[in-house]
Amino acid sequence: MPAHSSNKNLLLIGASRGLGLALAEEYLKRGWNVVATERAASPSRLHELAKACDGRLEIETVDIVQPDQVTALRTRLASRKFDMLFVNAGVTNDDRETIADVSTDEFIRVMVTNALSPMRVIETLQDVVLPDGTIGIMSSGQGSVANNQNGHHEVYRGSKAALNMFMRSFAARHADDTRTLLLMAPGWVRTDMGGSQARLSIEESIPNLASTMEAQAGKAGLQYLDYLGRQVPW
Ligand SMILES: NC(=O)c1ccc[n+]([C@@H]2O[C@H](COP(=O)([O-])OP(=O)(O)OC[C@H]3O[C@@H](n4cnc5c(N)ncnc54)[C@H](OP(=O)(O)O)[C@@H]3O)[C@@H](O)[C@H]2O)c1
Repeated sequence: MPAHSSNKNLLLIGASRGLGLALAEEYLKRGWNVVATERAASPSRLHELAKACDGRLEIETVDIVQPDQVTALRTRLASRKFDMLFVNAGVTNDDRETIADVSTDEFIRVMVTNALSPMRVIETLQDVVLPDGTIGIMSSGQGSVANNQNGHHEVYRGSKAALNMFMRSFAARHADDTRTLLLMAPGWVRTDMGGSQARLSIEESIPNLASTMEAQAGKAGLQYLDYLGRQVPW
């Protein structure tokens, strides 16, 4: 890992594996300092990564569905400022479960994790982001209402569409905010969630996704973009 620093700081929520871990690695490669989170109960490969990068990666813990943990993280980071806050954490359910047969508990789990909790993280932690910084969330192309011609992944789609709607409301409520707001669609990527049949490797998605986000820096307002910087229809 190169030792040079860009003096930019990223706070990355949900980076234990998959796209989150790859984002941590990518921003370290770009010379950023990264505070990346995992859940306390599951120490992750972040610890190996930290050993290889001269103190530029700090590991924090938070389970985003636990509001007290989000508040505690805010308290621990109160004196810090970040160029970007990015919430990657998310879950899916068994995609054979449609809205017709999903249990109420499973519906609540997916909606609370993917829609409510990322917004809570942003509401709670927004003050650590610089006035010209970026607040981003990992959405999905599946969150597009307009593009849903074929169904499938109904509960997950609904959770990401709800997330998109909440972020639009956040943007409306902060219409004078100078910060960049991003909902990102990484493409269908081979991770634990995406599965082995997914179209893209992590290497095809994440460096492009990071470049797309960096290209948006300094532009106020909310965008829903894919990993290649193309607008996703709402
Ligand atoms: N892969 C794709 O094709 C694809 C496509 C579109 C969007 N996405 C989105 O991209 C994001 C990452 O997906 P992925 O493919 O990398 O999934 P993944 O391999 O299943 O990883 C999910 C990550 O989210 C974390 N997480 C889940 N629930 C959490 C919670 N309550 N608190 C804190 N962290 C939590 C996990 O932590 P643990 O290790 O502790 O479980 C893990 O780091 C998700 O938001 C997903 O919806 C993925």
